[in-house]
Amino acid sequence: MTAQLKILAAEIELPKGIQRILPLPDDGLGALWTSIILDPAVKQKLLAQAVLNFSMRSKVSRNVLPLHGVILLVGPPGTGKTSLARGLAHRVAKAFPNDKFRLMEVEPHQLASSSLGKSQRAVTELFAQAIAEAAAGGPVVVLLDEVETLAADRAKLSMDANPVDVHRATDAVLVQLDALAERYPNLLFVATSNFPRAVDSAFTSRCDLILEIPLPNKEASADILKDCLIGLGAFYPAIGKLVNAPGFADCAAACVGLDGRAIRKMVGSAIATNLETATAPGNLTLAQILAAAKAAKASRAAAEC
Ligand SMILES: Nc1ncnc2c1ncn2[C@@H]1O[C@H](COP(=O)(O)OP(=O)(O)O)[C@@H](O)[C@H]1O
Ligand SMILES: [Mg+2]
Repeated sequence: MTAQLKILAAEIELPKGIQRILPLPDDGLGALWTSIILDPAVKQKLLAQAVLNFSMRSKVSRNVLPLHGVILLVGPPGTGKTSLARGLAHRVAKAFPNDKFRLMEVEPHQLASSSLGKSQRAVTELFAQAIAEAAAGGPVVVLLDEVETLAADRAKLSMDANPVDVHRATDAVLVQLDALAERYPNLLFVATSNFPRAVDSAFTSRCDLILEIPLPNKEASADILKDCLIGLGAFYPAIGKLVNAPGFADCAAACVGLDGRAIRKMVGSAIATNLETATAPGNLTLAQILAAAKAAKASRAAAEC
């Protein structure tokens, strides 16, 4: 079987709602962790909570320390939550070199989009079978990306506007989380949400850590811009040199208020200012970056109105 066919076969066999399963550690995910520029104390806290999950939960009774094995990352879109969650899986696996960790990525939209009556069953099957089976075979980090899709706030859902099924799916998630927490101490859920208020409070109360991932501050914005330009500098050396040119600080200041994804995308827009730079990106100027940053901020402000 060719490598491509093997990948296809593996994908076909994945249980419904599971996007992929990766053996850990994985250097690609490690690079993701380092690429996210964030207060080191926040990263440290996140990693420490994840490590504690695997070092303590199998030893200490839940009557003493009621840990569920759930971490929730919340914050505006584009702040690096999904990347951090994936990177965290790698880092925690590195902390236990004698164990074979895996990362399971759940695709909540696939479950939630099931027709009426099916979401609850799909969620139950995913948690009670697929995740439980994986956890029985060794330590697992489960990424529940955009968890509000799965654990929607029942208090805010109108019975008229939303199918009863959403309520049932949320209930099923909570029941299953409790059951898994009880049986599998070597399981860690890392959930993310762009809309923390849409996440059911019964879910958030089960989280061992809720970490807010903020928009990058002034220094972080400058570092993200720098990282992006230096990264491009590997292909177009002239772009890498822009970080030391006069005017870089103005560009960095103009990025404040944008999320990390938007800062990087803005550099792409700057290169696409005209056909000349699009064809020969090494000709990119700081003036083009400044204009692109201002345009990105203006369009964001317009979208928020
Ligand atoms: N703090 C940050 N530092 C560096 N890059 C960032 C940061 N936040 C976001 N990014 C960039 O944006 C991309 C998308 O981030 P992602 O993890 O999908 O964000 P979220 O899940 O919060 O929407 C990342 O791959 C990264 O390149
Ligand atoms: Mg995300």
